Amino acid sequence: MGEEGFSSDSSLLYHAGVPSAIVDSQVWNLPDQGTTPNHPLKPRHLKLHDLSTGSSSGVDAVTGRRLVLGNGDVRISYVVASDTSPYYRNATGDECVYVEAGSGTVETSFGVLSYRTGDYVLVPRATTHRWLPAEESRLYPIEASSHIAPPKRYLSRFGQFLEHAPYCERDLHGPSEPFVQEGADVEVLVKHRGSGPGGIVGSRLTYATHPLDVVGWDGCLYPYTFNVEDFMPITGKVHQPPPVHQVFEGWNFVICNFLPRKVDYHPLSIPVPYYHSNVDSDEVMFYVGGDYEARKGSGINIGSISLHPGGYAHGPQPSALEVSIGVEYFDESAVMVDTFRPLELGEGGLAVEDPAYAWTWAGRGPDAEGGGDGDGGPAVFSNS
Ligand SMILES: [Fe+2]
Repeated sequence: MGEEGFSSDSSLLYHAGVPSAIVDSQVWNLPDQGTTPNHPLKPRHLKLHDLSTGSSSGVDAVTGRRLVLGNGDVRISYVVASDTSPYYRNATGDECVYVEAGSGTVETSFGVLSYRTGDYVLVPRATTHRWLPAEESRLYPIEASSHIAPPKRYLSRFGQFLEHAPYCERDLHGPSEPFVQEGADVEVLVKHRGSGPGGIVGSRLTYATHPLDVVGWDGCLYPYTFNVEDFMPITGKVHQPPPVHQVFEGWNFVICNFLPRKVDYHPLSIPVPYYHSNVDSDEVMFYVGGDYEARKGSGINIGSISLHPGGYAHGPQPSALEVSIGVEYFDESAVMVDTFRPLELGEGGLAVEDPAYAWTWAGRGPDAEGGGDGDGGPAVFSNS
């Protein structure tokens, strides 16, 4: 298998059977992929943990995904899974699945990956695989219409991680041995390009022999995991802009992570960021760990997503600037996706929106009561 017409990364996979031998193809009806524009324009707060208040038994990591935000370049969903998923591959692009919590394995045609809390699980486009949670797993799949890779500026012209990069080859964990299964008439769900919502449809292919039958492979294209604990935050005497937090990039979007770190150490520094307008991007923050008591006033908590769209300046809630003076360390973890094209809201996002969020900086909104939550307390977060 090769990317970009076999002019980019590729691998040779040695199959025991014939990888093209299918005996059936049926329609697979995907979960709702429809989206609603962010119009009229507002910053949004989506409470992902409210998507999963019941038992996750019967829910798997592939068919249980609920679309939260999406556009033609990237789709973000959320699922709390306990069951083994069907065999599956995404033929629209690479997947980067952030493991908010949980552990288990992912069986792929290249071998088996183990995953744990804080992992990004990178699955290249069209890699057949399935998810097997060992415990309930909270997953945040980021599905690209392109490839997802480390930023080019972290790499030498020959592809080695440079020393200034916040992680290196040692931190990427691929499969370590072949994983050969036997079977007949094995179903694989394939998400692929088509005329459905978002330009995506599904098919259910049945293979004559087991698709996970690779006895070995060679190459530089393979699935791997990377854990946020292995990301070495870059800090500065004064405020460092968001690109220092970048971990991966895809076409028209980036993935960054904000992790526990020493903050700005100039004696006159104000550690929270200035109000900023990321004019070309929509910003999506997924708050996954740390102390958010200090975010009172915004309603944001663990499990929250904030969407700060292009065309709207954002920053800390009022009074957070004073509160942050003298602070030396931020204990916070968040995963950020910035997109160059506007994001629309999926059904999962719309189902758990906090409508008061947009008015929390002013302390009042369009309703007679003044909107917001009326809390008015300080909020400290580095990239709210
Ligand atoms: Fe921002």
